[in-house]
Amino acid sequence: MTTAAKPGTTSHALVVVNGAGVRYREGGRVLGALKEIGVKVPTLCYDERVGPVGTCRMCLVEVEVDGRKQTVASCTAFQQPGMKVATHTPELREYRQTLLELLLSETPSPNECPKCQSFATCEFHSAVNEYRARWDRFPRLRTRQKAADPNPFIQRDYDFCIACYRCTNICNDWEMASAITVQGRGQDSRIHTFFNNMLLESPCTFCGQCVNTCPTGALTDRKIVGKTDAKKVTRTKTICPYCGVGCGIHLLTQDGKLMGSEPDFSAPSRGSLCVKGQFGSWEFVRSEDRLKYPLIRRGGKNGTLERASWDEALDLVASRFKEIIARDGPDAITCWCSARCTNESNYLLQKFTRIALGTNNVDNCSRT
Ligand code: SF4
Ligand code: SF4
Ligand code: FES
Repeated sequence: MTTAAKPGTTSHALVVVNGAGVRYREGGRVLGALKEIGVKVPTLCYDERVGPVGTCRMCLVEVEVDGRKQTVASCTAFQQPGMKVATHTPELREYRQTLLELLLSETPSPNECPKCQSFATCEFHSAVNEYRARWDRFPRLRTRQKAADPNPFIQRDYDFCIACYRCTNICNDWEMASAITVQGRGQDSRIHTFFNNMLLESPCTFCGQCVNTCPTGALTDRKIVGKTDAKKVTRTKTICPYCGVGCGIHLLTQDGKLMGSEPDFSAPSRGSLCVKGQFGSWEFVRSEDRLKYPLIRRGGKNGTLERASWDEALDLVASRFKEIIARDGPDAITCWCSARCTNESNYLLQKFTRIALGTNNVDNCSRT
């Protein structure tokens, strides 16, 4: 039996990664072959949504084609049929360790990293631990320094910035917001916005993509950083409830309390969120103003809302519907569904409106 090759695939040729054969994909990058068999190398400047930029050099691997060896960045180099790839030779390990130690020389101690402490999603310090890179190997350089930016959502602590530019690339090439840019060159480069370097005064929509792609503690969710303990946080995969688009998120909880959200990169939304899904006010879950039982206003128009049983409330609504339909006809009633309800709930409400009430006056806020 033969298996049809996927598009972009040459069926029989292989790329050999650390001795294991991976099907060669025409136009595929070497990093893609590594990922196919679960071989990991640090990729501090790479976000697959905007493609490779090849600046951090952490993903360097040794490749051999027709007996010729060279060292290439696996995120930018293309696969070739018969290519042999080595990812963790002693030289490559030492090379990555040294690069990490150079980056460490221009950032504060890993013990102070807000992303490690609150979220455990810091790719930089995870690589530092893996390669046993030492913070004090090289003389200390100046850090890129915090931005005094009082926006309510994004903490910008550029002391931890390693100038990978994932944030500017995702902002410009994926979100098309162009809110942040690189100012200066080399060691003096900074992430900046136009004019006063305040996100609230920039075209930033607070989608949070810069926070989520940043591989360091330079950008974090200000609403929860410092309030969560990375060792205690659990993540639950779900869908953002704020509108009908339905972006994938993970809800962060700690000690049974909802703390915030992060994007789910495996969802069809591929990590994109708007300000509501990213920094939504999850406090509403525990709000004292939240309706927890039926209320009926007694004593006329200006009367007070009083707690009632479900039977009493439903009987009242049913009798009022009957009264209005008998007097003015069913089209005197309109039902509005909520984008925050499930599809099933919305389906039931339109069915109820059409069949039980007898009107087509039903709509949904996410249609507009
Ligand atoms: S803020 Fe983060 S994503 Fe942006 S350049 Fe610095 S380290 Fe990279
Ligand atoms: S509110 Fe925003 S994040 Fe949530 S589903 Fe809608 S577009 Fe996505
Ligand atoms: S991930 Fe390849 S050079 Fe940075």
